[in-house]
Amino acid sequence: MELSLVLQAFFVFLMSFQVLLVSCSQTITMKGELGTSPFPRNFLFGTASSSYQFEGAFLADGKGLNNWDNFTHKPGNIIDGSNGDVAVDHYHRYLEDLELMEDIGVNSYRFSISWARILPKGRFGAVNRAGVDHYNKFIDALLHRGIIPFVTLTHYDIPQELEDRYGGWLSPQVQKDFAYYADICFEYFGDRVKFWVTFNEPNVAVIRGYRSGDYPPAHCSGLFGNCKEGDSEREPFIAAHNIILSHSAAVGIYRTKYQKEQEGSIGIVMNTMWYEPISNSSEDKRAAERAQAFFMNWFLDPILFGKYPAEMHEILGSSLPEFSKYDQEKLKNRLDFIGINQYTSFYVKDCIFSICEPGIGYSKTEGYAIWTAQNKGVFIGEPTDLDWLYVHPQGMYEMVTYIKERYNNLPMYITENGFGEKEKPTEILLNDVWRVNYMSCYLDALATAVRKGADVRGYFAWSLLDNFEWKDGYTVRFGLYHVDYATLKRNRKTSATWYKQYIANHTRPVKLVKYSFTKK
Ligand SMILES: *[C@@H]1O[C@H](CO)[C@@H](O)[C@H](O)[C@H]1NC(C)=O
Ligand SMILES: *[C@@H]1O[C@H](CO)[C@@H](O)[C@H](O)[C@H]1NC(C)=O
Ligand SMILES: *[C@@H]1O[C@H](CO)[C@@H](O)[C@H](O)[C@H]1NC(C)=O
Repeated sequence: MELSLVLQAFFVFLMSFQVLLVSCSQTITMKGELGTSPFPRNFLFGTASSSYQFEGAFLADGKGLNNWDNFTHKPGNIIDGSNGDVAVDHYHRYLEDLELMEDIGVNSYRFSISWARILPKGRFGAVNRAGVDHYNKFIDALLHRGIIPFVTLTHYDIPQELEDRYGGWLSPQVQKDFAYYADICFEYFGDRVKFWVTFNEPNVAVIRGYRSGDYPPAHCSGLFGNCKEGDSEREPFIAAHNIILSHSAAVGIYRTKYQKEQEGSIGIVMNTMWYEPISNSSEDKRAAERAQAFFMNWFLDPILFGKYPAEMHEILGSSLPEFSKYDQEKLKNRLDFIGINQYTSFYVKDCIFSICEPGIGYSKTEGYAIWTAQNKGVFIGEPTDLDWLYVHPQGMYEMVTYIKERYNNLPMYITENGFGEKEKPTEILLNDVWRVNYMSCYLDALATAVRKGADVRGYFAWSLLDNFEWKDGYTVRFGLYHVDYATLKRNRKTSATWYKQYIANHTRPVKLVKYSFTKK
């Protein structure tokens, strides 16, 4: 009690500086004419979510178990001992949540389909009609409100059946399962869904699932962690290889069977970090480039150019799987857009020519390019409650510009950007000036990239609601709306009001494509 009073006093003290806090680095803001929006007509402004973090209803209407159900149900895996069994009950409360979206005035919503709701046993069982019906109702409800669905096929969750049968992403068999699932989604929902994402952050899924082992299926070895099984030096690359080929198979199906008639587009979403060389030495500059190769280009290069980055070949040699001639040909230009999840930046230091203390990026399998938040004791951006999140808006500008240049200015969407906070008194959480400051500065930096020619077509704030934050359970809040986990009541934060105004200031009326509401 006393502690919370002290905390409260501290935050009230901090808030009295809120005018000071809302200021972005001057180096990146490039103000346009007063009252003109830098964003193109039809720009998508939305909020983002994912099935496991939002839906709950983990056994409702014939859903099968997925890898995250299994993982969270094992004691010790989630820091507060929680799981996504109920989450924020979005599965049942979506109509209420749509009202919140309408109130903010978004024209788009990014969500993911739970694979195990559609195919409880993958391709080894039947389509679950009730799961299909749920998403049909949800998609129709969005469109009736003028909100465009932006749909991810898999946001970390896969049917446990596929893990149990053949080891999930480690087996080439998964390519067949993913293609089968994608085909079903295009068939049932593609008449109304015009934006498809195959994978959310496959780089994070394989690094944490197979290197550090702190996400399912919890594989790791050696210095990387204490797991029952795994091989941190090899498995991340095998899983990534199967994901890249699964993506390619799904895009092939979409392009040959559906795209002409349905007129949608298909992409992938990568987690991105802006890597700033810690010094101007050519070694550190090359290390920053290696860090991008081993984190993001790892996936995007094969999907667009048909081969892994040269830096990966050089360092990994034969432990990097190879694409056949046939795969290489098929893989080129396998994206209509790039989805970018952008939160933060790190300094990068070379570990080939100089000696490093162990840390992230230090090992061969990570490219000998260590990540660090500080340079000579100064943080790259203002630290937050989260040990990986530093406020560095310039990273948004740099990241978008890097992707624009490397990938020929392919259309881009900022599919996630947001600010997380640990538990505090509710009044403090509701007056989230730090989140407003963060979003405002990151959007400014994005606007500058757009003015300089980056083809960015949308921005999705992570997230509409506080929700289940993976390993952190319910201890970290990213929502524009606060959720009281005892009652599941949603309460508007200052950031929701701010975002509403921002959208109103930056949009012209969007001409909606006419959709038919015929259900299959
Ligand atoms: C996943 O959970 C189910 C149900 O509790 C259990 O039968 C199965 O053995 C679990 N699988 C793994 C690999 O833990
Ligand atoms: C690198 O050089 C630029 C241009 O001279 C300078 O602005 C920047 O501060 C330097 N960076 C570091 C880390 O020394
Ligand atoms: C929206 O525009 C009004 C009028 O120019 C301005 O006062 C307000 O600060 C803007 N708000 C946001 C969030 O952009």
